Amino acid sequence: MSGHIPTLADLGDVSGKRVLVRTDFNVPMEDGRITDDFRIRAALPTIQWLTERGAQVVCASHLGRPKGQPNPKYSMDAVRARLAELAPGVDLLENLRFNAGEEGNDPAFVAEIVAGMDAYVDDAFGAAHRAHASIVGPPRTLPSAMGLLLQKEVEVLLGLRNDPKRPFVAVLGGAKISDKLGVVEALLGVVDSLVIGGAMCFTFLAAQGHAIGDSLWEPEHVDTCRRLLQSGKTIHLPEDLVGVDARGEFATFGRNVPDGAKGFDIGPGTAAAFSDVIMEARTVFWNGPMGMFEDPRFEAGTRTVAQAMADTKAFTVVGGGDSAAALAQFGFADDVDHVSTGGGAALELLELGDLPGLEALRGAPNAA
Ligand code: 3PG
Repeated sequence: MSGHIPTLADLGDVSGKRVLVRTDFNVPMEDGRITDDFRIRAALPTIQWLTERGAQVVCASHLGRPKGQPNPKYSMDAVRARLAELAPGVDLLENLRFNAGEEGNDPAFVAEIVAGMDAYVDDAFGAAHRAHASIVGPPRTLPSAMGLLLQKEVEVLLGLRNDPKRPFVAVLGGAKISDKLGVVEALLGVVDSLVIGGAMCFTFLAAQGHAIGDSLWEPEHVDTCRRLLQSGKTIHLPEDLVGVDARGEFATFGRNVPDGAKGFDIGPGTAAAFSDVIMEARTVFWNGPMGMFEDPRFEAGTRTVAQAMADTKAFTVVGGGDSAAALAQFGFADDVDHVSTGGGAALELLELGDLPGLEALRGAPNAA
């Protein structure tokens, strides 16, 4: 990554200016209510920085995937109400993805959202990997800057990539290896060891010749997993598993899952071993749960990893999405050094070292 990304100070005097702030208010909702306002609170330092200096802030975000059509299910009303409590007097546009021009990066839609604005701030780290209109469009014409959240995320995640304290361990879980192959490859070049749990472990176990029963796996990626296992880096895989047997009863397994059975979590021996690796590290990045933690029978592996993340003296970073939700569910969200607001964006930044949103800011008129 080269070139200067303007920061808030590079906007100059913002007093009396209308500033469009792209936020990632894509918060989890249930029955029209916000279940976790973490992403709204995470944008407050930037909003306050601007309002304290006399700017008039207009926020804009997407919510869900309404596919370019207005849809009351994805209206910003609940977010707007919460924002009004946290930052009175700040405006919020309607869901950007109600217009197909957002995802299509349509210049006409960019013109619509920048009309009447004097400056642009991108604080939507979670969406910075999307080359959408509101992310890459405004910096073409408006003086622009990254917000404090985006700046912090970039510093922390690029710090992991470029200059981690060693040993550096990445703990990866979640259902699909296909979503994470790129980042696994990139991380193998940086980490001292990789810890793999979650359903994605079954494709690796299959690559080692273990039986995986009816567990989730992706046969088309077995060869890639075999190659990664031969990379020379230490990859820790589960030594025991828990799940259900062929009758659907709770069961524990070793490294082999019998025919008809399914693995849903790492076993207690594995959880203890993974915890030891985390305790001995000096830097840990965790993305993806170790098992189906929404079901109390299969939460123990993820809980043990979350506990180790809270207890270790290492510098700890948790990628957004499910692992952040697990951390919050187990009450450890305040005990790690950085919880990223981005899921896909955090992985893409670790993998590629850059994001479309950052590249756009480097091209802003005030970036030179
Ligand atoms: C996220 O939740 O990861 C971001 O808000 C991006 O959402 P998207 O995957 O729908 O683009």
